[in-house]
Amino acid sequence: MTLLDLTIDEVLTTTRAVRKRLDLDRPVERTVIEECLELALQAPTGSNQQQWHWIVLDEPEVIGQAADIYREAMAQYSADIAEGREHYERQTVRAEQMSESVAYLRDNMHRLPAMLVPVLADRFGVLRGDQAQTFHHASQWGSIIPSVWSFMLALRSRGMGSAWTTIHLHREQEMADLLGIPYETHIQAGLFPIAYTIGTNFRPALRQPAAKVTTYNHWIPDWE
Ligand SMILES: Cc1cc2nc3c(=O)[nH]c(=O)nc-3n(C[C@H](O)[C@H](O)[C@H](O)COP(=O)(O)O)c2cc1C
Repeated sequence: MTLLDLTIDEVLTTTRAVRKRLDLDRPVERTVIEECLELALQAPTGSNQQQWHWIVLDEPEVIGQAADIYREAMAQYSADIAEGREHYERQTVRAEQMSESVAYLRDNMHRLPAMLVPVLADRFGVLRGDQAQTFHHASQWGSIIPSVWSFMLALRSRGMGSAWTTIHLHREQEMADLLGIPYETHIQAGLFPIAYTIGTNFRPALRQPAAKVTTYNHWIPDWE
């Protein structure tokens, strides 16, 4: 597999949520996905316990069913927002633009060549109840999120793309049933499209400069 001619800093600043520029017609080889996973699995985990499982979806029928779950979960989420059960702030024009792209992914997900569902064992057995403390959340999520981001960076450096998605977790159990995941003891981190990108030129995102959101040695009392 050929790597793009990008520096590490360029990969870090141009790995975007790709939706409309996912190439839905180009197949993705399992070998490339496995290569990206090998890289991703180098990420750190709490107590060095890699209690994870990575489910790659590449059969059209399974992808179609996963896409159905995603679509239904998004419909439920939208209804929850409309009926005030879910807090949501529509802040900027950028949010409007984003939603068109979000809808595109929702409507075309069934056409993806592959997807990834990262699964983590609930090591302390508390995440599904109301016992979890910050320590449990930070340790558990911190033991899967670095590796998933590495996976996305590895895709990017190979001319491929993804988008971090969590919407389907409104229907997490349905996805667990579809893929045979033991729901009570295992948590899904999200659903990640895998495809080559249409073109490879992506730009850094608009973000607040670090200096605006960083302080040294103390919190700013009125920061928000
Ligand atoms: C925790 C998390 C959950 C997200 N969930 C979704 C999702 O369900 N569907 C979707 O289309 N994008 C989702 N996104 C993608 C974000 O909308 C996207 O990262 C954000 O708009 C910034 O764009 P960028 O990644 O290109 O900088 C999610 C991102 C994160 C980090």
